[in-house]
Amino acid sequence: MKEDSLPASRFQRNKRCIIWSTVISLCALALILGLAIGLTRKSQSSPSENDALQNFPEQFILSGNNFTITSQPTTRYYEFNITQRNGSPDGFERTMLVVNNQFPGPLIECNIGDRIVVKVNNQLPDGQGTSIHWHGMFQTNTTWMDGTVGVTQCPIPPGESFTYNYTITEQRGTYWWHSHAKGQYTDGIVGPLIVHDPNEGFMNDYDEDIVVMISDWYHELSPISLAQYANADNTEGAEPVPENGLINGLNLFDCNGSTNSSIPCTGGTQANFTFVPGKRYRIRLINTGAFAEFDFSIDGHKLTVVEADGVAMKPVAIDRVPIQVAQRYSLIVEANQTVGNYWMRAIINQNCLAYTNDALNPVVLAAVHYEGANGTIPNSPDPGYSDPVDCVDLDPSDLKPVDGMDAPPYDVSYYIEASFQAIREDRIRYGYMNTTSWSPLQNTSTLQQANAGVTTFDTNTQFVLTPPDNATVVQLIIQNFDDGSHPFHLHGHTFWLLGTGAGYYASNTNLNTTNPVRRDTGTVPAFGYAIIRFIPHPGMWLFHCHLVWHHLMGLAMQIQYQPSVIRSFDVPQDWKNLCPS
Ligand code: C2O
Repeated sequence: MKEDSLPASRFQRNKRCIIWSTVISLCALALILGLAIGLTRKSQSSPSENDALQNFPEQFILSGNNFTITSQPTTRYYEFNITQRNGSPDGFERTMLVVNNQFPGPLIECNIGDRIVVKVNNQLPDGQGTSIHWHGMFQTNTTWMDGTVGVTQCPIPPGESFTYNYTITEQRGTYWWHSHAKGQYTDGIVGPLIVHDPNEGFMNDYDEDIVVMISDWYHELSPISLAQYANADNTEGAEPVPENGLINGLNLFDCNGSTNSSIPCTGGTQANFTFVPGKRYRIRLINTGAFAEFDFSIDGHKLTVVEADGVAMKPVAIDRVPIQVAQRYSLIVEANQTVGNYWMRAIINQNCLAYTNDALNPVVLAAVHYEGANGTIPNSPDPGYSDPVDCVDLDPSDLKPVDGMDAPPYDVSYYIEASFQAIREDRIRYGYMNTTSWSPLQNTSTLQQANAGVTTFDTNTQFVLTPPDNATVVQLIIQNFDDGSHPFHLHGHTFWLLGTGAGYYASNTNLNTTNPVRRDTGTVPAFGYAIIRFIPHPGMWLFHCHLVWHHLMGLAMQIQYQPSVIRSFDVPQDWKNLCPS
């Protein structure tokens, strides 16, 4: 610069000297602080193998830690350290993959309009790339932040980091986050994501707000379970059956039922909740499991459904809520019973399992303790529930969105067949959407390709549906040729569920277009059909069965909307760098 070439006066030299020494001392200070922070981080994030896995029940009580519900947006920063370690959520020790040594993983609690920044540090062993998907987030104009390996990104390699950064607009309610690399979430990379909105509409209908995550639980790592499933000898396609179920990451396990006595087994503990008599609780129920459908109830209490998958519903009081993998419900429960202790029951519907696992006790319990009651162990009588015959959603006619919207007519409709077939040389049964069985692209993603101008994809593994640019409403008719039901999830959208049923969809099939339920995960019944409509927005969106074993065997396809807009997306360089090619 010209200024630098001028002879400096002594004052200027002195000034430079002062500036330089200030810069140097600031740098030194920053270095020391950095080291100190780094060391504390390190001591928090890499405990010795013997440190117990953390379960923080406090984090499931929302609006704690002075959290303020407001329409004033802010930016919230998180750091996720993903490691492989041993853990025993139900007292049975196994290898797990976890975030920040916590299971379930850390709560993300925010307000509508907030920007969420999450630095993910992959500290997994070699060969285990990872990603985090924000289930149900629209990712408007940030499709590359959707966190889906092979679709919207390449995996974050071990030893490396990636920072997700997106803004939550136009949505509120109950969501979750999970790894979207292989079957990793089944091994522990899951947590709740709650979006508050002062204008949600029913904030005055409850006093306390709590998260209840329920999930099935396997005693083997997911690649081992998958190997049993993806096997030519498994001609019936029997999915792995879990050993247990968990409520907020806890349950008992009968160690006598364990087949390997050399594995440490202490039997675990049950989750428990405290009710203050007369108070009303909003329970945010999330099925974060791999395969099992649950029926949820609290002895002696009515559950009033007010939200499904982030959409506010007209209140309906029921005794028992069936919940499929990846779905969410908000249930308002009033502590209006005799002061006492009651069981919360999450019962695995065994009619949806391929076989009975002797180790599995399908009745997963947690204690609800009324303040002032004697003791803490419930003695409420068993209501004697039996498993529903069908593995389907809570009756959609019970779910009427408060913000009523009729399903608009579609501009384009696609007919899609979902099936499992053993037609390859290896005789393994793969999942197909029409004639394509999905598996993630290696070293690239469909979004990376689309952003670079690629218009055709490898149809052996990628079924990418591209509606016309001017189609504002898209309809999908999914016909299921499988004897199992499939909770299908569409990334980045909520859809209208116009109808589901047994048998074949036909042109005279009755569709409900009058304010039908809107959600992001809906079940296509066994040998049945479902019809959905949605308003697409630009991006690459996975549409898949959320049952982990089905998804991993290929029951997935993609919706690409407005490729020219995708090409024009100014994607961040660090995102591009995740893909080596
Ligand atoms: Cu919960 Cu493909 O997502």
